[in-house]
Amino acid sequence: MHIRRPIIIANWKLNGGIDLLCSSVVSFIRKHYEAEIVVCPPYIYIRDMLNFLQHSEIRIGSQNVSKFESGAFTGETSAQMLKEAGCKYCLIGHSERRSMFRENNASCQIKVQRALNTGLTPVLCIGENSEERENQITRDVLTRQLAEGLEGLDLKNKSLCIAYEPVWAIGTGKAASPEIAQEVHQFIRQELIALYGADTAEKIRLLYGGSVNKTNAKELLSQPDIDGLLVGGASLDPEHFVNICQQASVQAETQLVTGV
Ligand code: PGA
Repeated sequence: MHIRRPIIIANWKLNGGIDLLCSSVVSFIRKHYEAEIVVCPPYIYIRDMLNFLQHSEIRIGSQNVSKFESGAFTGETSAQMLKEAGCKYCLIGHSERRSMFRENNASCQIKVQRALNTGLTPVLCIGENSEERENQITRDVLTRQLAEGLEGLDLKNKSLCIAYEPVWAIGTGKAASPEIAQEVHQFIRQELIALYGADTAEKIRLLYGGSVNKTNAKELLSQPDIDGLLVGGASLDPEHFVNICQQASVQAETQLVTGV
């Protein structure tokens, strides 16, 4: 079985300023974590963060990417520019972008393609809203988001993450229970196996996101198909964030010892 290194991604959304963001990660500088830690600042702070974290192992991601490469697209930032700025990851199709900025599966597919072509690791965000869960169509929604968001993409020698973020859990304080999250992650893994075959699907890291905090992180991370966490609000609280990263590192160490 393939060992997937646990990953914690901080989604800082539209929060600043730079001093607050630096204070969230100041204790990480020169510390080693077995888990991979990524922070996604607003674009304007990416370079500052990179300088601030230059002696640390923390990686930088973007919260979005343009579906265009270059040209007359005012306000856009391309995958190539993000790569040049030092990003390793980029979030794509976060539910806030889908609901407030009219992103859909088709635009996500183009963005994932752009990121893959450039060497960024896309983190495609998917998840059902509360109405869809109540109507018991969660699986249909996810199947569609995956099939359309990844349509025609060749993942050979490429790195991809999928973040399952149920919309009803984002910023609400109502995280999915570890059982529900595991059940959905297992389903996502099966869908990826159907799309790409077991070898490739086993390497894709699946993150859970939605009201993660230091209290629920451990149990979520100990589920077999949850390989990491996408953390919003709690990532701005240094105490919570360090604690979550430590728990992920313990999980990573356990994997190294037990091989699972
Ligand atoms: P939350 O946000 O942790 O504040 O719920 C998660 C996200 O939007 O990625």
